[in-house]
Amino acid sequence: MTSGPTHMRSVVAGIGSFLPARKVSNADLEKMVDTTDDWIVQRTGIRNRHIAGEGETTSVLATHAANAALADAGLTGNDIDLLIVATSTPDYTFPSTATQVQAAIGMLHGAAFDVQAVCSGFVFAMATADKFLMSGSHRRALVIGAETFSRLLDWNDRTTCVLFGDGAGAVVLEAREGAGTIKDRGMLTTHLRSDGRHREKLYVDGGPSTTGTVGHLRMSGRDVFRHAVSMVTDVMVDAFAATGTTAEDLDWFVPHQANRRIIDASAEKLGIAPGKIVVTVDQHGNTSAASIPLALCAAVKDGRIKAGDLVMIEAMGGGFTWGSALIRW
Ligand code: UT7
Repeated sequence: MTSGPTHMRSVVAGIGSFLPARKVSNADLEKMVDTTDDWIVQRTGIRNRHIAGEGETTSVLATHAANAALADAGLTGNDIDLLIVATSTPDYTFPSTATQVQAAIGMLHGAAFDVQAVCSGFVFAMATADKFLMSGSHRRALVIGAETFSRLLDWNDRTTCVLFGDGAGAVVLEAREGAGTIKDRGMLTTHLRSDGRHREKLYVDGGPSTTGTVGHLRMSGRDVFRHAVSMVTDVMVDAFAATGTTAEDLDWFVPHQANRRIIDASAEKLGIAPGKIVVTVDQHGNTSAASIPLALCAAVKDGRIKAGDLVMIEAMGGGFTWGSALIRW
């Protein structure tokens, strides 16, 4: 007997990522704005970030990551019937970056669209794909987080320009029948939240319907920081409650990589052991929607995350938006 659609699981079948070749260190930034390596490392844990070069648009980074994830899964573009790109730095106002990637990977059917939830975008996109796959409407999804935040930055504003980087990561999700228990491989639960009252704490001061320009990122870092830990730990507690799991059950904690202090404080609040935390913010900076798939990919490729491991992802960003997903790898 086959089980019902509630037992359909979105299982990770492949992963890939891409970083632009150009690396920018804190020492490089010291030459551009009034900052120091010490300040950046102490306040954020960031040492390096990658910055996209000419021609390296978000869809180009996303396509590299997508092709790596497809190769890892042993699939081609046409095996995918749902493609979602999480980005706040699309190539164009429209069409979506997802449709550009769709064409680039030779996916000639199905649907492709963007999801915009800033730094939480990858979690929102994973949750969206999971709903499609669980419903039975689609079979294989490519979920990509890709950003070129360097192009939104005010390079004269030291309070923001030292924090961000560019990159892309991609995951192939495949609908497979599960037993309906938390032992199943795949996405076990997702929890999304937003609160639009916080707009002015983290936003871009331009857009097609306001200024007619792209604009620059503006952030009141201290205000964002103040909310971040409680928001991300709330949605992780929701994930534990929904699955009857605890921090002890986790094999890996793969948070959004904005700031080492936020990551460590969140883990400590929930009793997640420091050895279970995957950290890439030191080498990538904050790559917004790309940060989680970049970190996941690093930990899969170096052998830390293995099939069957219980992995918590979470993020918080502009909007505010925040969310978590618990995945049996
Ligand atoms: O991914 C989306 C979510 N975003 C985040 O999670 C970011 C959250 N916020 C943060 O990570 C931190 O708030 C920051 C890293 C942005 C800032 O750290 P902070 O400990 O909150 O510092 P602060 O903003 O309170 O600034 C402290 C001082 C200020 O000087 P005064 O006013 O105390 O004299 C700043 O002007 O540090 C100064 N400052 C800098 N100094 C050297 C700010 N930026 C820099 C800089 N270099 N780059």
